[in-house]
This record gives sequence, structure tokens and C-alpha cells, in this order.
Amino acid sequence: MQWNNKLTALLDISYPIIQAPMLGITTPEMVAAISNYGGLGSLPVGNIDPVNVRALIQQTKTLTSKPFAVNLFTYDIPIAPDNSSFDAMQAHLQTTYTRSGLGVPTVDLKTLELFSYKDILPILLEENIPIVSFTFGIPDTQSLDQLKARNVIMIGTATSLEEAVQLEQKGIHIIVAQGMEAGGHRGTFLPGAFPQIGTMALVPQIVDRVGVPVIAAGGIMDGRGVAAALMLGASGVQPGSAFLLTKESMASEAHKAAIAAATDTTTRYTRAFSGRWARGLSNTLIASVEESELSILPYPYQDALTQPARKASKALDNPSFVAMWAGQAAGMAKKGVNTTDVLKALVEGAEQLIPSLKGQS
Ligand SMILES: Cc1cc2nc3c(=O)[nH]c(=O)nc-3n(C[C@H](O)[C@H](O)[C@H](O)COP(=O)(O)O)c2cc1C
Repeated sequence: MQWNNKLTALLDISYPIIQAPMLGITTPEMVAAISNYGGLGSLPVGNIDPVNVRALIQQTKTLTSKPFAVNLFTYDIPIAPDNSSFDAMQAHLQTTYTRSGLGVPTVDLKTLELFSYKDILPILLEENIPIVSFTFGIPDTQSLDQLKARNVIMIGTATSLEEAVQLEQKGIHIIVAQGMEAGGHRGTFLPGAFPQIGTMALVPQIVDRVGVPVIAAGGIMDGRGVAAALMLGASGVQPGSAFLLTKESMASEAHKAAIAAATDTTTRYTRAFSGRWARGLSNTLIASVEESELSILPYPYQDALTQPARKASKALDNPSFVAMWAGQAAGMAKKGVNTTDVLKALVEGAEQLIPSLKGQS
């Protein structure tokens, strides 16, 4: 059984359900499970170094012969912060780590190796990735031309109507409307803006304005959310938090326990981990950075500075310094299930509410 619409036709999938790319959570196994079932898996490669990006893509290809998307963070590396603000933030974080008994290596601003999507895109082209999704902005003209020349399907992220209009004007084929309920980083890219529009309000406004298929993201946890998004005019959905507690999720056990205990009011926005606004669960690192009142470094410098603590904390299954990104409805995520079970429940739940979906073939 499959649901046919313009999105399934464009992406050559059976169900217009895209597993959200979740850097630090999504594994090749998760991506493959979704694509093999007939949805679209998305492999996040954010700011990972190009060598590891290629390895992750190749690993995913061994697990599925179906199409999957690779997801980029479309940012340019800004001018490095001055030494004094970097050093002040680092000294403060080191004091916090020491107080918590966590040994974390220091980061040297001079030797920091940072990658942008422009370093990663050639790998995607060499690997013949058919679908590329992105967040944080629109790729530059040269990158767009390269993608268009290879007939790559491009999926952009919008958190406001204006962002959606700009994505469509640049020839992006599909737009993810990311509501403020969504877990993880905001895809916001217009300077000075921080739109906080809920999925229910954002989706129909974008649907009414653009001609390309729209995918709803933010707060979709079960068949009710899928059906509601379709009713609002979305052609598909991109749930993320629904997959956080699956067996294929990379989250540690303590991290999963914190998500499982989340309620409607537990998540919040913060810039403490990366320098960009993101929604997740509070912990020691967020509290420490925010109480310090120090200037948070721009992305990806703050991200690079907190990276060793995230790694050390995760290795000890201690969630105090791990970025626990989660959406407002993350507490509804099912524990200990396979990724496929979550996808199946999304499909069957929506089919119960909209029986005509089943008849589409
Ligand atoms: C843990 C986590 C990590 C995320 N990482 C990414 C990412 O790497 N790239 C991206 O485009 N979106 C990322 N997102 C946002 C998702 O694409 C999506 O917008 C969001 O999960 C939808 O809201 P929901 O979590 O309520 O389902 C992430 C979300 C979460 C929860």
C-alpha cells in the first residue's frame, strides 16, 4: 500500500514521511530502515569532516538501495571571534567541567579545523546523492548550479513565509515548514529575524503562497499529527523527535531517559551549545553558559568549543554536557522500539484517520 501525491512522485517513495535528519542521533541504520520501508531517510552531515561524510554515505548505501537524502548545514564560516571572548568562554566552561569532575581537553582557536557545506558538497556530488536537504540558509549560486546540473532534488528549510518565498525563488524543489515546536536547531536564515511560528500556523500560510510541495515539521509524533499536517495542505511530514528513543538512535541511555521523562513544558530554546538557537532539554552546560552572561560565540565557534565536553559526557553516559535536542512533544516518543515500528505507526495512524489514503495507488 502507498499514498500517492506530488511529493511521493518527486522523491520516488511510497509514503511522504521524511525522517528528520538529526545530527548526533541519526545513524545509517535509521536512515536505511526508513528508506527500505518506503519513506525517505535523511542522513545528517552538518559540520562533519568530509572524510567521515563519505564513510557515512557509503555505510548507508550498504544498508539500502533506496533513495535517501543527505542533509547539510548551509552556513559560511564567519570571521573568528577575538581571542579574549574565546578564552573567557573556554575558561568559564573549564571551571564548570572541573566542578562536575569531568576532564575535557581544551580547544585551540588557532588550530581549529572547521568545515562548511562547500567542503562537503563535492563528496555528495561524487557519491551521486539524488536528494539534498539543508537548513540554516540557501546554498550559494555556484553550489545551486552544481546541484541543478546533476538534477539533484533540493529540500530547503523555512521558519517563516518570507524564507519560504526566498527558497522557492532560488529554485528549491521542496520546502520544509519548520514550526517553533520542532526539536533541534532553528533553520532560520534571514538576518536579524527569529520567527517563532507554530507548525499549525506556518504550514497553511506557506502552502497558500508557494507552488512547490511543503513538508510540515514540528510536533508531529503519531498518525494524528500526520493527518493534521495533510489537512493543512502539507504534502508530507518530517518528524524528528518521534525517532529519538528508537533502537537505531545514537542517543545514550541517560539521554534517552531524560527525553522519556520530558513533558510539554520541559524544552526551551538556547544558544549555549552552538551559538545558534536550538530547542532541547536543559542541563548543566546550558545553565552554566547562560548564568555566566558571557558573550556566546557565533556558530560554529561555540559549537567547536563545547564539542569535546559533549563527547566526554556522552562516553560516560552523563547527560549534563550533551546537547539533548528535543521538540515540545518529545515526551510522546515511544521507547525501545525499532525505527520501522515508529514509521509504521505514523502510516497506519494516518490511514485510520483518513481512510482514503489507503485507496491511493
Ligand atoms: C536531536 C535533533 C537533531 C536535529 N538535527 C537536525 C539536523 O542535523 N539537520 C536538520 O535539518 N534538522 C535537524 N533537526 C530538526 C529536524 O529536521 C525537524 O525540524 C524537527 O525534528 C521536527 O520537529 P520534532 O522534533 O518536533 O519532530 C534536529 C532535530 C532534533 C530533535
